[in-house]
Amino acid sequence: MLLPVILSGGAGSRLWPVSREALPKPFIALPDGETLLLKTLKRAIGLPGVQNVLTVTNRDYYFLTRDEYESNAESAVAGRKSIVHDYLLEPVGRNTAPAIAAAALHAARKYGEDTVLLILPADHLINDQSSFAQAVSAATVLAEQGWLVTFGIQPTAPETGYGYIESSDSVVDTSGYKVAHFVEKPNLDTAKAYITSGRFTWNSGMFCFTAGAMLAALQDCAPTVLNAVERTFAATAFDKDPAVLDATAFSLVPDISIDYAVMERAAKVAVVPVSFDWSDIGSWSALAQLVAPDDRGNRISCETVLVDTDNCYVQSDSRMIAVIGVDNLLIVDTPDALLIAHNSRAQDVKSVVTRLKLLS
Ligand code: GDD
Ligand code: MG
Repeated sequence: MLLPVILSGGAGSRLWPVSREALPKPFIALPDGETLLLKTLKRAIGLPGVQNVLTVTNRDYYFLTRDEYESNAESAVAGRKSIVHDYLLEPVGRNTAPAIAAAALHAARKYGEDTVLLILPADHLINDQSSFAQAVSAATVLAEQGWLVTFGIQPTAPETGYGYIESSDSVVDTSGYKVAHFVEKPNLDTAKAYITSGRFTWNSGMFCFTAGAMLAALQDCAPTVLNAVERTFAATAFDKDPAVLDATAFSLVPDISIDYAVMERAAKVAVVPVSFDWSDIGSWSALAQLVAPDDRGNRISCETVLVDTDNCYVQSDSRMIAVIGVDNLLIVDTPDALLIAHNSRAQDVKSVVTRLKLLS
């Protein structure tokens, strides 16, 4: 059984002021009006044979998530029989290792240790469903042999916000390669060296493995995470639907990503290289790319008057925006906050959020 697991519990601070704790990135409508969460659900249930989906998210996002799935249910499940939705709700975000440990435990208990989990972050854009399905099918073959499978994206720049995967020459079952090294979020110089070497791909953030293989890897690489999540399960009232993980026990789970906790350390990691276009919409400049430019390179998704303006992205919820005599700016207006940033500084938006948190 293939069980897609949608992760949507992270806050995402690089799309401030639109993305906030109350409305994180997966719930923001893209310029085409659809959220990344809905696109992720559609991608998951568009895979052959998928009947169940597990969503692991913060309890604060449960109704938002369910409404999003249901209000769009007809288009999302067009042509498909009913999808069974399971939820695991977190009282507090502890990052992706605990969320994935909880998913693996849940799946092992409910559907068996052989269940193949396909971890899908809800903050990605992939348009080519058939290449995606091919990659998942290759990954499933390896997962069933006990590999923890990553999906390697051809890198285009020395990004420091991604994990890097060094492939070995050792081919696994013609579907992928054994991973020589997995390095999460290297510094800029290291990332540049990786790109130059030509041996690295970006970690897509999606993973595929059996529930049993992940539980064994957690036991080896991050037993404190696994033990704390097991204690949380023991204290959780699973007769309630949806289940909210016990707050006291879950607050004691270490806060760590799956990349640092397991992928950098595990022995049996494979990579399936993929060719589909992929974006994690990690910044306003990435989101701007979704809007077609005018003849001066401006990308506009609202009512605007532009005078002598080049290469700007302008977004507004309601107000008319006028821009005169500037270039290379990101301008994002909301009812209570306005962002103006140079195009080249899109990654620094998160530092605004850090400062605002210190002030509050
Ligand atoms: N349920 C739950 N709980 N989900 C979470 C939590 C949590 O505590 N924290 C994060 N998530 C979700 C996010 O909503 C997102 O969909 C996904 O897990 C990945 O988390 P991010 O915080 O966005 O990770 P990242 O982008 O910094 O890094 C990961 O993705 C990169 C590609 O976009 C890593 O896997 C990198 O190696 C990878 O390159
Ligand atoms: Mg991300």
